[in-house]
Amino acid sequence: MSAPHAVRPLGTTTPGSDSRLPPRARVRSDARALSLDGVWRFRLTDHAPLDEVDGIPPFAVHGPDGADWHDLVVPSHWPLHGHGSPWYTNIRYPFPVDPPHVPDTNPTGDHVRTVDLPDDWPATGRTVLRLDGAESLAHVWVNGTEIGWSTGSRLAVEYDVTDVLRPGTNTVALRVHQWSQGSYLEDQDQWWLPGVFRSVALEHRPVDALDDVFVTADRDPVTGRGRLRIETVTTAGSVTVRLPETGLEARISPASPAHLDVGVVDAWSAEIPRLYDLTVATDGERVRMRVGFRRVEVVGDQLLANGVPLVFHGVNRHETHPDLGRVFDEDVVRADLALMKRHNVQAIRTAHQPPHPRFLELADELGFWVVLECDLETHGFWEVDWVGNPSDDPTWRDAYLDRVRRTVERDKNHASVVMWSLGNESGTGRNLAAMADWIRQRDPSRPIHYEGDVDGAYTDVYSRMYPTLEEIDSVCGTVTMPVHETSGPAAGARQRAKPFLLCEYGHAMGNGPGMLAEYQERIERWPSLHGGFVWEWRDHGLRTRTADGTTYFGYGGDFGEPVHDGVFVMDGLVLSDGTPTPALADLAALWAPVRFVRTGSSLTVRNLRAHADTADLVVSWELRVDGRAVDDGTLDVPPVRPGSEATVALPSEAIAPRRGHRAHLTFRADLRADTAWADAGHAVASGQVAADVVAVEPVEAESGRPGRTALPVSAVFSDDGTLRSWRGVPLAGPRPELWRAPTENDRAAGQGSSETVLPELTSGRGDESVPPSADRWRERGLDRLTHRVLSLETDGRALVQRVRSMPAGSSTGIESEFRWTGDDGSLRLRWTTVPIGPWDCTWPRIGLHLELPEDLTDDASWWGTGPHESYADARNGVEVGRFTAPIDDLGIRYARPQETGHRPGLHELRLGPLVVAAAEGHGATLPGFQVARHSAQQWSAVGHAHELPASDRLHLYLDAAQHGLGSRACGPDVLPRYALWPRQVALDITFR
Ligand code: GAL
Repeated sequence: MSAPHAVRPLGTTTPGSDSRLPPRARVRSDARALSLDGVWRFRLTDHAPLDEVDGIPPFAVHGPDGADWHDLVVPSHWPLHGHGSPWYTNIRYPFPVDPPHVPDTNPTGDHVRTVDLPDDWPATGRTVLRLDGAESLAHVWVNGTEIGWSTGSRLAVEYDVTDVLRPGTNTVALRVHQWSQGSYLEDQDQWWLPGVFRSVALEHRPVDALDDVFVTADRDPVTGRGRLRIETVTTAGSVTVRLPETGLEARISPASPAHLDVGVVDAWSAEIPRLYDLTVATDGERVRMRVGFRRVEVVGDQLLANGVPLVFHGVNRHETHPDLGRVFDEDVVRADLALMKRHNVQAIRTAHQPPHPRFLELADELGFWVVLECDLETHGFWEVDWVGNPSDDPTWRDAYLDRVRRTVERDKNHASVVMWSLGNESGTGRNLAAMADWIRQRDPSRPIHYEGDVDGAYTDVYSRMYPTLEEIDSVCGTVTMPVHETSGPAAGARQRAKPFLLCEYGHAMGNGPGMLAEYQERIERWPSLHGGFVWEWRDHGLRTRTADGTTYFGYGGDFGEPVHDGVFVMDGLVLSDGTPTPALADLAALWAPVRFVRTGSSLTVRNLRAHADTADLVVSWELRVDGRAVDDGTLDVPPVRPGSEATVALPSEAIAPRRGHRAHLTFRADLRADTAWADAGHAVASGQVAADVVAVEPVEAESGRPGRTALPVSAVFSDDGTLRSWRGVPLAGPRPELWRAPTENDRAAGQGSSETVLPELTSGRGDESVPPSADRWRERGLDRLTHRVLSLETDGRALVQRVRSMPAGSSTGIESEFRWTGDDGSLRLRWTTVPIGPWDCTWPRIGLHLELPEDLTDDASWWGTGPHESYADARNGVEVGRFTAPIDDLGIRYARPQETGHRPGLHELRLGPLVVAAAEGHGATLPGFQVARHSAQQWSAVGHAHELPASDRLHLYLDAAQHGLGSRACGPDVLPRYALWPRQVALDITFR
């Protein structure tokens, strides 16, 4: 065999050897295949061995030798199997920016195994070796003969190995370098995880094989007629096409693309993912495909699917698994996709690389609109002002074209793929434009996306990440600002004339994001805004251990990386272990396909779907009085067409006035039958309205009117008037508290462009001029209030304590009045507090902190909002009711301990023998409560939960208010209306 490459693999801009076969579609074929997944022998060295320069490394000829070889399963990332370690960076390269070179110290994994070719392996035809993914440069030898090499970690590559394979035992050897020229193009915000992380296989290519097939299944949205365009690559003289459900059977010539009319067909959509079985065959090979008929098109500023606007309710999805990294696990992925569907996610951007090929079959089948992104990001050049960025350097052109070809060719047949994305955060330049040109010529059926095409010079949609609401309004409505980073008004006008989408928004890092409702309101308001993709689906934590064996999910810096970006890799709607966070419930509510509007005695059911009616849903109502369900029923709602609504009468028992009580009507739309992603009865939508707003009596009536009797004997106060115990339960506090453990959004100065912080909070200056909220709060001492009793008075009816709370070194603080009254049945506290001094920052919270015995109870029951935590700007996924939960489940185990578990609107809380009731009115608000085993100060002192000290008490917080969450870890800060500025508050609490 001639030398498969003319150049050294490393230190060039060449993407791979000439011996690589042209990329082709991944299909299900009846050709023989032999998986090489399984146990290989493996050795890690810390540099690219010099023997490679001369050709053949000895292990490729003689197999593994010496003690440094181990067993390693393929597919895998070697750092997750005890060889080397993972490394996380967001933007910066973990090596010098010296393209196309990488350091000599370059972890290199040699993999070798033998393969017994079955006796009946066909003697005719060819055999190819396929690698589905290896990070980042894989060099291949078979039986000691060099086969070739390739970069493009998340892209498949094939080599013809027919001439080197022999009957019986063969040796396959791979040398994989962690760093290569390819790494410059793979600077995605994720772990650097070298290894052969997708499958390796031998595939037989029969004589007259069907080497490639490209099916475009179009459907005219007006006539409903389907059309197949089929292009094949084969040496066979003719190809047979069968679409049994339509009765189509045709012989086509491979000489040119065939166009076949298939008559009226059902459309494929993410809502109704109707697939048809298709077989395409030559005499040598038969492939089975599942096609979905749909048309995606850009018409003016509209992106249409099947003739109606395509609005993404999407998430950005990385392949990440706490133990496997980017190795695919079908069960986990299927469960993830079902979880998405159950939360009304109907779109996925494959950030920022092509997923495992099986993922797309699942997306076709379950129904997702997929924006499929090429394996490309050069963000690290941002650190050097984009000097030398490969995107505009002609020497990298082949590498860019190689990547886009391999992306499109592999996945071109999937109904779910509705848009190609050139990559992410790679600046702009001619090579990106060349990629777009290539796609346009190869697959004109799908629009092209790339957020970095700021002038809209070569893409079909206008895309932004983390814009402010003002920016969205300016793009879609009244123009108030220039279009982001465009070179001038002409480019701005061009962008505004396109369909607009948010390829990233709602940064779900830690607790948050807030303001998803405001984004959703824009998405529904502006016709040219086609939705977007929340960042991101899952935390990327990797399961690891402390020295004493405690397991936890590690993030940047937990693996000894010399440079890293810490916890920024943990920004998922689900935690590393797959636990959904309340942000997902928030989204599920905003993206519910059905919305309920109650007007008097009728209910309007709006179908927000674009393709499906509501025949699959059962609509019901439930009446809750004082949080308890007292009555329910189903409503006879006729199927509502997509985009329209129906109004039905509510039964009289649902709307009968309940004077003197708090009543809520909850409406639900549940699945009538099982689906592939949820059981019958799963609620796809719910909505709650207060059913009785006029007749609530002040709760004082039940809980001890001030002045009725003297203080109860079962309340013990210390000499300075501080409550010490109630009915034998020792208590410390209540103390005023302003501190919450900063969320990731509180901690962030704002990532990305300066516009991402709201002008009204920043006077329009850049992020860097606005310190993180947490820094301001800490500087002003909010985490370390000291308290001084100013006075204690008793008038026989009430005990009145006045307390001043201020931090050391500061003249600002708050002044509180604690007014205690009650009788033996109850102890009532009216707490009023006012800010003192010149406050110049928001407060994280304003509330009371009580310390309770550790063993008081393990569960909390409450009447208020639930079941999840919620905050002023993230409260769409909760309702009013009665709930019970273990104390350990009240908070979310965010990657880094931070504020969690706040539940506003508390009427009553039971903690074992202790009952805390709250009333509103007379200036008092219903509190939000939080019960935890650690204080806010303890949470904020550690980077991981396992670093917390052993708990010795319970902490109960009753907050009059908390600051919103915002999305400032990457995006806009808390909106002014959700910000907690210093103000007077009052609470009315009764202990029973
Ligand atoms: C974006 C980027 C993502 C991720 C996100 C922050 O700029 O495209 O890959 O880094 O910021 O988490």
